[in-house]
Amino acid sequence: MSRHRNVRTMNYEDEYYDEDEVYGHSYDDSYCVSPATAAQFTFNRERDINLSSYMEEGIPEEEDESDPEGLSDSGRDNFKLDDVEQAKLNSCKEEIVNVIGDTIPEHIVSQAVVRNHYNIQATLNELLNQNEAPKPQRQPRTDRRANRQEFAPVQPTVQLKTPVKKTATSDIAKATSAASQIRLESSPSRGVSDSQPVSKTVKNAIAKTERDSRTGAVNLSVNNEEDFTDSDSRNLTESKVKAVNPEIDLVGDLMGRDPEIARVTSSGIPATPKSTSKVKQDKARLKEELERRKTGKDLLNLVVIGHVDAGKSTLMGHLLYQMGVVNKRAMHKYEQESKKRGKGSFAFAWVLDETEEERSRGVTMDIAQTAFETLHKQITLLDAPGHKDFIPNMITGTAQADVAILVVNATRGEFETGFESGGQTREHALLARSLGVSQLLVAINKMDTVNWSQTRYDDIVVKLGTFLKQAGYKDSDVSYIPCSGLGGENLTKAVTEPKLAEWYKGSTLLEQIDKFKPVERSMDRPFRLIISDVFKGLGSGFSVVGRVSSGSVQAGDKVLVQPAGDLAVVKAVTMEDSDNSCGFAGDHVTIILTGMDMAHVNVGSAICDPQNPIKSAMRIRARIVIFNLELPITKGFTVVFHYQSITEPAIIKRLNCQLNKNTGEVIKNKPKCLVKNSSAVVEIEFDRPVCLEMYKEYKDLGRFMLRHGGHTIAAGLVEEVLKTKSKTEENSTE
Ligand code: GTP
Ligand code: MG
Repeated sequence: MSRHRNVRTMNYEDEYYDEDEVYGHSYDDSYCVSPATAAQFTFNRERDINLSSYMEEGIPEEEDESDPEGLSDSGRDNFKLDDVEQAKLNSCKEEIVNVIGDTIPEHIVSQAVVRNHYNIQATLNELLNQNEAPKPQRQPRTDRRANRQEFAPVQPTVQLKTPVKKTATSDIAKATSAASQIRLESSPSRGVSDSQPVSKTVKNAIAKTERDSRTGAVNLSVNNEEDFTDSDSRNLTESKVKAVNPEIDLVGDLMGRDPEIARVTSSGIPATPKSTSKVKQDKARLKEELERRKTGKDLLNLVVIGHVDAGKSTLMGHLLYQMGVVNKRAMHKYEQESKKRGKGSFAFAWVLDETEEERSRGVTMDIAQTAFETLHKQITLLDAPGHKDFIPNMITGTAQADVAILVVNATRGEFETGFESGGQTREHALLARSLGVSQLLVAINKMDTVNWSQTRYDDIVVKLGTFLKQAGYKDSDVSYIPCSGLGGENLTKAVTEPKLAEWYKGSTLLEQIDKFKPVERSMDRPFRLIISDVFKGLGSGFSVVGRVSSGSVQAGDKVLVQPAGDLAVVKAVTMEDSDNSCGFAGDHVTIILTGMDMAHVNVGSAICDPQNPIKSAMRIRARIVIFNLELPITKGFTVVFHYQSITEPAIIKRLNCQLNKNTGEVIKNKPKCLVKNSSAVVEIEFDRPVCLEMYKEYKDLGRFMLRHGGHTIAAGLVEEVLKTKSKTEENSTE
């Protein structure tokens, strides 16, 4: 997440001007050196400077990331092969190149061939899986952390998620012990394992450790029976799949007997039960806080979605500015600086696009989070990226949202591009619906570019209305407003533009946000939170960020971290920088954990109630609805499993049956393939455990998306967890 920023409470005075408040005052005037002196003495990042020239001799250059296996720059293979092996390698390479062409550099192919012991099929699988790897997403914005006094900038722990090779289950026990040794010697950074020339066992060990120390999901609190799409939820109810794995369900009751829990209790934290008076006190405190909340404003998580450059960040940045959440000085600074870089039109977008790269490219890459209040609501705003390369981040943000604003660009030709097949207006709307968002506010933006034309507005409303209905949104849950994010028209104040005022008498954007219906929270379920960020604070322990999916958490609670299986103690719970000491379902919180090793926690890990742990699934049975496909899905089809804050490579292991999309009836058992626009029950297997739940028990933790080749191909609901991590370990030791 674009974590830890707090636009509302930021002290702009500290980071910007002193006494000077004069508009039009040149930014350059604030410097007390002449440009020439500055040029002479200031470090210029633009110049191509070889940093190693500043270093002491003998410090080895870091290995190039793009060369993780230690290959030379020329890309030549570094293997010592005898003649026979070399001949084998050449013939394998030839076969492989016949299949994949020259899409993958030769040296990577060579390495893969050697790694897979000259097995062409295995090599192809590995290479094709790698090719499917999602683009780097969601790197931590450490600079933001540095701004927060209580958090020290430390080694990032949010890691890029790349597909991992499968390791034979029998290797796991050996690998784990090797990995634990390695961890003592190396930093916990995941990148290390890839860039160092380590033996195969050691590599497997690290891969295994990594797999074990992550996985997960955050969830939505919309507790709506008609989530997913209308027809899908109907299907789900009608199918009445009740096959709950009794071993999994009993986990909570078997505390101490289950091997996973047994390990937990031996993990260093004494699992001593709280005294009854303490429990009573805690409960009373929670109840009190909950009562207080009920009398206050409703909390609502709002995500802003839409095609790239629709004006999402500008619209929300300007809204925050008009509301006074961002002050004039800061805005003036953004204006001046963006102008200097030739990106003047992005000044309002800079309120939410905080990183250097986002600002220089003029593209949102990661979810930005901030908060503001309307008359009746306390809103957590999540600004999603529109570019298709960052859809995984958009999914992460949307999975944590209750409601959405879909921003569309009214400009002629632009709306059509976003709306046609492959455009993100369409894809985002579908994703949001599949991820449980049922209320949508459509902001028809950039109305200034179409001269505030009512005909254009009506045309867009009709086109979108038909599509959104098909996508499963109820008419009564969708509203439309015309606006201009750049000009600030119809955001917080009544329309001033005469051409718009002629025909539009409806609500402003802010009023419409205030009209979102409150959503139900899963307060009665055991505590679950899927981690979307991990970082080290100044004091003891470390911090995790995420949205409470269900139940509640408060300082002093003992929680279980899955899939690592470690117990930890909640030292503090903060929300929007205020120390609430507790968090309820739906809250975006930062939790400080103590008593466990931070290296065992990663983005996608879950923290949960130790008595009712979340499942660490290795294989699930799921109902999927297929959207658009070029190739039919067959057994063994590789997909990228998008679930809350993780993207995980997975394989469709089995096609159980094809269903009638409308009635949910089984049309065909064990189909050979699944084509577009169909619905089916399939089994999906992961390389490493994913913390999830069944849809019927935890709606928000049971939803996922499948992507393939950079396209969203299906949405799914978890029907049953077939194999868990603990079961796999049991099997491997047998
Ligand atoms: P991504 O997050 O990268 O998908 O883009 P975005 O949807 O956040 O768009 P952003 O706010 O970055 O704006 C893109 C461009 O559209 C900028 O140059 C804005 O100035 C311009 N823009 C935004 N709103 C309006 C508007 O109401 N009218 C006009 N004319 N331009 C606008
Ligand atoms: Mg943006």
